[in-house]
Amino acid sequence: MKNSFSLKFLTVLAFLLILCSCGLKTDKFFTEADIKIIPKVESLQVNSGVFEFNKNTLFVVTDNSQETAAQLLIDKFKTVNNWDLKVVSEQTNDNYIVFNTDVSLKNEAYTLRVTSNNISISASSYSGFLYGVQSLRMLLPTAIESKKQVSDIVWQIPNIEIKDSPRFKWRGLMLDLSRHFFDKDYIKETIDAISLLKMNVLHLHLVDDHGWRIEIKKHPRLTEVGAWRVDQEHMPWNKRATNSPEEKGTYGGFLTQEELKEVVAYAELKGVEVVPEIEMPAHVSSAIAAYPELSCLEKPIGVPSGALWPITDIYCAGKEYTFEFLEDVLMEVIDIFPSKYIHIGGDEATKTNWKTCPHCQKRMKQEGLHDVEELQSYFVKRMEKFINSKGKKLIGWDEILEGGLAPGATVMSWRGFKGGLQAAGQGHDVVMTPTDFCYFDYYQGPPEQEPVAGGSVTTLSKVYQFDPVVDSMTEEEANHVLGGQANLWAEHVSTEPHSQYMIFPRLAALSETVWSPKASRNWDDFSNRLISMFQRYDYLGINYAKSSFIVTSDMKIDVQNKTVSLILHNEYPNSNIKYALNDEALDNNSKPFVEPIILSKTTAVKAGLFKDDVLFGDIFQDTIKFHKGVANNVMYNTDFNERYQGAGDFNLVNTLRGTKNFRDGRWQAWLNSGVDVTIDLETEKEINQVTVGSMENQKNGIFYPTLIQVFVSNDGEIFNEITSFNRLFVLNENPELKDFILPFDTLNTRFVKIKISLSNNIRERNEGWIFVDEILID
Ligand code: ACM
Ligand code: ZN
Repeated sequence: MKNSFSLKFLTVLAFLLILCSCGLKTDKFFTEADIKIIPKVESLQVNSGVFEFNKNTLFVVTDNSQETAAQLLIDKFKTVNNWDLKVVSEQTNDNYIVFNTDVSLKNEAYTLRVTSNNISISASSYSGFLYGVQSLRMLLPTAIESKKQVSDIVWQIPNIEIKDSPRFKWRGLMLDLSRHFFDKDYIKETIDAISLLKMNVLHLHLVDDHGWRIEIKKHPRLTEVGAWRVDQEHMPWNKRATNSPEEKGTYGGFLTQEELKEVVAYAELKGVEVVPEIEMPAHVSSAIAAYPELSCLEKPIGVPSGALWPITDIYCAGKEYTFEFLEDVLMEVIDIFPSKYIHIGGDEATKTNWKTCPHCQKRMKQEGLHDVEELQSYFVKRMEKFINSKGKKLIGWDEILEGGLAPGATVMSWRGFKGGLQAAGQGHDVVMTPTDFCYFDYYQGPPEQEPVAGGSVTTLSKVYQFDPVVDSMTEEEANHVLGGQANLWAEHVSTEPHSQYMIFPRLAALSETVWSPKASRNWDDFSNRLISMFQRYDYLGINYAKSSFIVTSDMKIDVQNKTVSLILHNEYPNSNIKYALNDEALDNNSKPFVEPIILSKTTAVKAGLFKDDVLFGDIFQDTIKFHKGVANNVMYNTDFNERYQGAGDFNLVNTLRGTKNFRDGRWQAWLNSGVDVTIDLETEKEINQVTVGSMENQKNGIFYPTLIQVFVSNDGEIFNEITSFNRLFVLNENPELKDFILPFDTLNTRFVKIKISLSNNIRERNEGWIFVDEILID
């Protein structure tokens, strides 16, 4: 009886258990490593349990700003699940997100508390609520970003407590609309993407030489003429011809005041302030093309289509007309943009015309100005008075320091941190945007593998090292640092996908440098969170760059064994690099790179970064060319320059070839001196060819050799010249790589001396650099 009861009981229990487990789905178990919010939050604590969104989840709000913030998430759930989540004003029992106003929190700060029962977001301002929602969004599965319905997603998020607030007030991105025009819809998309990163300033560069992009009703020629240039888009930027003023421009565009107001209103909804930049006194060829009387010479010009340097057609600082014009323009600008700041540019003015213009000279005399720097300072101070009289503050590029800073001006420091340091030292506010970290028109990967870009290379990890506060600053100076900003100059960027490619993911890295506590900065941790951001970008259709996945190589030589070890790496820690040698295919079954690959003969290598067994980014390909000089002693009869040492004493025989980036650390260089090196093959070897790997980059004073001589010796003392190579100087505008091959009749020898020089006429014209990456002896 007893046994039979237990048996029945057990059977029923088992049945019930099966029944339960069928209907029971297991909650996801979260740890801190699952929290992928970018920028990193100030503090968080993950608790056990989850909250799950479903079609009955409610949003509890008590005012409009809370409701607007909630709407962002409601819209997302509508798109991905077709749910109509409701907003209510009364708290219910469970399954709700409640917004609480907490005036003790700072302006943009928020707290986010998730329990299995409900979620609460507290803030004192709209931005705070918005940022709470953005963080909530980044706790959700990345499919929340989908632009179409998704199925089989459980919308669970971990129970968590987050406290968060920004480190800096100014977290900006600048879009250059002049060099290439981008329309209102693209600007709005960009606002969405920057708001997701809790960035709060969109600086619009609306005026430059290459196009005037804002409708000004009182001066219609600014957009009738100034917004259009002769279409030379098929030509590289630096090779475009000067346009005549008669030729009608057909390439360009502008934003109407209505469109700009729409952008401003949209930005406000996303917590973003739009700061307009109206350049003066230089970078205004487009305005002068429309109204030549604004310049000193009053000479008609065409809107330029490409590179323009120096910029001498600038506003006349003597004529009253210039100031009346600019006040008209700014009146209309101020009417459109409610921002606290008006950016007046101020950079890169070549003031030669001011030195001879009678109007400018008269002004200098009248005002007791000693030089044209002081005249620019007068110009900016006068504009500042006007801008202040309208209740706004002036901000300008760091050149506004020259000749004396306007009393209340804020400085945007771009030529490094120097201008920012100086301005903060004088008690002025500063926004840091130094080229090395913040210029997103720079390359983000090896230039060989990237679309044409400006300047040098600013990788994702370099951006992540940005800090707007300089160590040497006093606390008071540091308090004047409002924050930092990325600038995307658009000379080489003409399409929306390309613009996104330059901005993302570098802006994600920058967002963390201006939002998160400095102490929490951690590249490994950031790069883990970034993978989830990439998934979001994939859903959102944002064309982010995968340049940080590019595999790069380095070489170590083993002098004893005459081998080289190939080291593959990439910007990410513990990345899964796989490689294939010679004819092997590169795929998921390829060998993982775990230790240096030792090579003793010419070998072709392919490698790539794999994530979840899928090849990510471009394939690295190289052929490591072995020759008889590899890992042998090189005697330097003339020394290489200390600025370009390459890998040091074995650089010329380490098989590692240089790229067009002359700062890639693979080149040895000689300045204003010939190369004279002897390679010791240790024993007599049969050879019949010497190859010199070289580069030309004439803009930077780097020239191909004009003479190469090869000598051999068996004792290292008496050398015979066996061949030489002469080449005339040829103008060459582009950086280029070339192997100079010098064959000769086969011979046996131990010492090979190579002399390389430049002809005197190059040296007379320029500083003459000779760059050599490898000397191959075969
Ligand atoms: C600048 O890059 N000229 C501000
Ligand atoms: Zn003048």
